[in-house]
Amino acid sequence: MRGLSRTWWRRAKKANQHEPVSMRFYNVWETVSRFAAENRKRPTVVVESGGFVGMSSAFILKAFVDEGLTTAKLYSIEWDADCEQGALVPDELRPQFVPLWGKVEDFVKGDQLPASIDMFLHDSSHSYRHMLWEFREFWERLRDRGLLVSHDVNLNAAFPEFVAKTYAHNKKTGRLDAQRTSHYEWGRWGYIGFVIKKEKAD
Ligand SMILES: C[S@@+](CC[C@H](N)C(=O)[O-])C[C@H]1O[C@@H](n2cnc3c(N)ncnc32)[C@H](O)[C@@H]1O
Repeated sequence: MRGLSRTWWRRAKKANQHEPVSMRFYNVWETVSRFAAENRKRPTVVVESGGFVGMSSAFILKAFVDEGLTTAKLYSIEWDADCEQGALVPDELRPQFVPLWGKVEDFVKGDQLPASIDMFLHDSSHSYRHMLWEFREFWERLRDRGLLVSHDVNLNAAFPEFVAKTYAHNKKTGRLDAQRTSHYEWGRWGYIGFVIKKEKAD
């Protein structure tokens, strides 16, 4: 500490005084945890594309148990008949696991998927076209405050492009128009992207 200049300390002190104000504008995690708390009050429906051997499935199912979401279900879609779908899911987590074998494209046409979804996780084909298609398709099925999550958002521009389309801007200021914007929050953590849906006001 001795090596730090007086100017540095003055600046740091000043910055700290402003923290409570600036933090109000950076409440992403607060919003996410508030919506997660709301989810605990009713049956949760999660859909994932690209279930494969079930690494992501096992983590989601474990989170159900840890959070006491006893009525929650995970619908996991996988088209590769040669892979052992959900092999990594431990037996005790299977009651809440709904493996679906086939293409996502076909499931969205049928009636096996729930009409209203709380969380969608994309982890199937990571082509630009397919990712954008899945985001649009499942965004429609997400309820207000539902969460869209995508793995590997770094592989193409689909995720940032999709999020950009959920913004509305004020004509005068050019800034976010929160009323007309159709997300509450969005973010990226490593290769994982998320966006929380806001139902448009009629
Ligand atoms: C990256 S892996 C998924 C890994 C898995 N989430 C895990 O954590 O174990 C991608 C999987 O998506 C599947 N897939 C790709 N396109 C698909 C589609 N259109 N419909 C269903 N599954 C698809 C592939 O067969 C592959 O097994």
